[in-house]
Amino acid sequence: MTDNMSRPLLEVKGLSMHFTTKKRGKVSTVKAVDNVSFNIYRGETFGMVGESGCGKTTCGRTIIRLYDPTGGEVIYDGKPISGKMTSELRKYITEHIAMVFQDPIASLNPRMTVQEIIGEGLKIRGIVDPKERERIVVDMLQRVGLMPEHATRYPHEFSGGQRQRIGIARALVVNPSLIIADEPVSALDVSVQAQVINLLNDLKEEFGLTIMFIAHNLSVVKYFCDRIAVMYFGKLVELATSDDLFANPCHPYTKALLSAIPLPDPRAEKRRKKISYDPKEAHEYGAGNMPDYHEVSPGHWVYCSEQEFQDMLKNKA
Ligand SMILES: Nc1ncnc2c1ncn2[C@@H]1O[C@H](COP(=O)(O)OP(=O)(O)OP(=O)(O)O)[C@@H](O)[C@H]1O
Ligand SMILES: [Mg+2]
Repeated sequence: MTDNMSRPLLEVKGLSMHFTTKKRGKVSTVKAVDNVSFNIYRGETFGMVGESGCGKTTCGRTIIRLYDPTGGEVIYDGKPISGKMTSELRKYITEHIAMVFQDPIASLNPRMTVQEIIGEGLKIRGIVDPKERERIVVDMLQRVGLMPEHATRYPHEFSGGQRQRIGIARALVVNPSLIIADEPVSALDVSVQAQVINLLNDLKEEFGLTIMFIAHNLSVVKYFCDRIAVMYFGKLVELATSDDLFANPCHPYTKALLSAIPLPDPRAEKRRKKISYDPKEAHEYGAGNMPDYHEVSPGHWVYCSEQEFQDMLKNKA
């Protein structure tokens, strides 16, 4: 997929991550991420949505090389980062891309204080002086809305929202350009969700960040993301600007996701019809009629067959 904006910060080209598992001697393959392509531009907030198990986390983890991709390529700022792992490449990736992990409880070491957790990232920056590290950690805690005295506490002493803030501070302290935030708010109460999203927005401005924001649900990403990628079972099925995706969803799965969003007006909410998506019913794929990426309008990509593409164009006209 190409678009005609400036050079992307991150290029993901035909990325695949297939897991092979063995259960009772039987080998099976899960195509967690399957031939996925997208670009993320400097300064943008790029959303990735889709239901549980569609491969969002795997996509993020493969980009930062927690997994070795089984296919495709990832290029960061012109430099390929999906090739053979070396200590130099590991250093490069950790210096530039940081991930805020999905589960704020499991991703924070319970035996480390907040000072130690956040301070770890400073080793990457080569800051070894303990006083300097302490100063930076305290500063970072305040920037994410925590207090200096929180530095000596352990993760279990914090609420879900506070733990997510610790995760954000840990990601930011490395001074990365790209943050991959994996469902940073889905475990939180609605009111706390808004606080964490506002915090991310402020930090984005302050630090000049680019954000890849992973979420289950489209309503969370609508106002926050410039562009949105919709994933379904390892495939990227639609990619468009937020406005375009909401105004003109083309893939039946995107339509189903949109129909699941509750409406604020109670009368409209009563009339809301939830659309379900069953790939077997929705498509008639077969030899000579296989899906591929089609651009329905500039920058709006849909994974569909030629026939479906022609119908989408007709519907738009
Ligand atoms: N390490 C692994 N080994 C084998 N299979 C895996 C592994 N990690 C993920 N999977 C499988 O890959 C698929 C995608 O999982 P992934 O965690 O990326 O989904 P997700 O979109 O992040 O879901 P959720 O919204 O629940 O977080 C799932 O079927 C999952 O079981
Ligand atoms: Mg996930």
